Amino acid sequence: MYMPEKAAVIGAGTMGHGIAEVFALAGYHVGLTDAYPEALEKAKVSIRDSLSRLVKSSKITQEAAEQVFSRISFVGTVREAVEGASIVIEAVPEIEELKKKVFSQLDELTGSSVILASNTSNIRITSIAEGLRHPERVVGMHFFNPPVVLKLVEVIKGEKTSDEAFENAYRIVEKIGKTPIRVMKDTPGFVVNRVNAPESLFFCLLLEKGMAKPEEVDAFARGQGLPMGPYELMDYVGIDTVVHSLDYYARTLSPDYGKCRLFHSMVEKGMLGAKTGRGFYEWKDHRAQVPK
Ligand code: 3HC
Repeated sequence: MYMPEKAAVIGAGTMGHGIAEVFALAGYHVGLTDAYPEALEKAKVSIRDSLSRLVKSSKITQEAAEQVFSRISFVGTVREAVEGASIVIEAVPEIEELKKKVFSQLDELTGSSVILASNTSNIRITSIAEGLRHPERVVGMHFFNPPVVLKLVEVIKGEKTSDEAFENAYRIVEKIGKTPIRVMKDTPGFVVNRVNAPESLFFCLLLEKGMAKPEEVDAFARGQGLPMGPYELMDYVGIDTVVHSLDYYARTLSPDYGKCRLFHSMVEKGMLGAKTGRGFYEWKDHRAQVPK
């Protein structure tokens, strides 16, 4: 009997819910779980909303959207999510210790042939896989927000990742309709975020030193043809994710990345961007309300 492949996604937040949707759109059954039941409820709403946007722009039919949604099981435990899965994608917050804890649990709960992928933005895969029984099946599978729309996925090889697991992960990314790039050296930030890291720091310092207004910098960037300006994009990705990334770079690349504290103060005030409705901008219906 034909058994559709199953993927599991651990973490139903900004990225996790979108990754679950991408795998379900590609025909996978998906087990999606989160430590917070309210995050799982929010993921249901976000995935329904995203599918209706795909229907509205005639990318899929209403019937297909319902089938895709029915392929996603919103479950309360990691054990239920990974049951029968051939691949697990971790998408919990960008905190190294938290990711290592999740992978230790996944290592216990899954057979050695199951690929364990992290959607980490910056954290070395080698470190995430450290101490596991089967580090050879741990890879990086770094999606870009929103995963449903953006094609690029970085596939990252940790020092202990086997060639087989690395190539399997690459093929899976192609199978779900994305464009993988192989990242052969496991360094903080990999390719895209390593290149963007200095930008995040400079855009922070630009504001901290009162040199410019976010809305004017963003207007300039959009005027240059970018879909979002830098501050709008940081709101969209999550100011907390940007702060976790800068803190990680300050620990692993250079203390200079810890120089700017403006973003940290925004996180302390709960101003995380689109995910809390307010960051540099107020957010409504997926859009930054840019002051005129
Ligand atoms: N689900 C389904 N469809 C969606 C969607 C979603 N979540 N988000 C947008 N879309 C679709 C819309 O339906 C629309 O489709 P249509 O053009 O066929 O009608 C199309 O995408 C454009 O969306 P909008 O009209 O709402 O608005 P925009 O034109 O501004 O596009 C955007 C929205 C795709 C988010 C665009 O602003 C964009 O690409 N922004 C840049 C995003 C980016 O750079 N992400 C990477 C950040 S870095 C990262 O993620 C790395 C991590 O490590 C931090």
